[in-house]
Amino acid sequence: MKPTKKKANGKPAKAQICLRVNGEPVEVAFAPHKTLLEVLREDLALTGTKHGCELGECGCCAVLVDGRPVLSCLVLGVAVEGHEVTTVEGMAEGAKLHPLQDAFAELGAAQCGYCTPGFLLTAKVLLEETPQPSRERIKEALAGNICRCTGYIKIFEAVELAAARMAGKPAEPSKESIYGRR
Ligand code: FES
Ligand code: FES
Repeated sequence: MKPTKKKANGKPAKAQICLRVNGEPVEVAFAPHKTLLEVLREDLALTGTKHGCELGECGCCAVLVDGRPVLSCLVLGVAVEGHEVTTVEGMAEGAKLHPLQDAFAELGAAQCGYCTPGFLLTAKVLLEETPQPSRERIKEALAGNICRCTGYIKIFEAVELAAARMAGKPAEPSKESIYGRR
């Protein structure tokens, strides 16, 4: 980490670090007290990562650091120097959405959407480690993410649908999932 300009009191006003964000090399300078969440949103304009409780309780600020889910409100920006950070903006490949993003959109698993980036990234890691998770395993993996809107069922179904499609199964959402039970 390189200190940049000095304040009148001689202390560095900003920290400057190099890292990779969504596959691209990035150099960024910011006030050294900032969290990774603040650096992403305020200094790198990656506002897909959401700012919720700032206490490590809601999961909406989750990003991946070196492929592992991390609550970005609990990590200092300076701590990710030299690491690879993945945000929700890095999930799609060009114009092609990740299967989880498609499934969340199809099933209404994203409503207000505030929690969605954290769920998507946490579920992405789950499916990389456990390609065909049980409903219980999905619940366990997503237990640290809070959603105020969906009642969670649509989210669990969306993860199952994405898992089936990623395994090459011709899965479509059931009518009950889209329209509710009749
Ligand atoms: S904002 Fe980080 S866990 Fe809530
Ligand atoms: S979709 Fe609104 S909080 Fe989850």
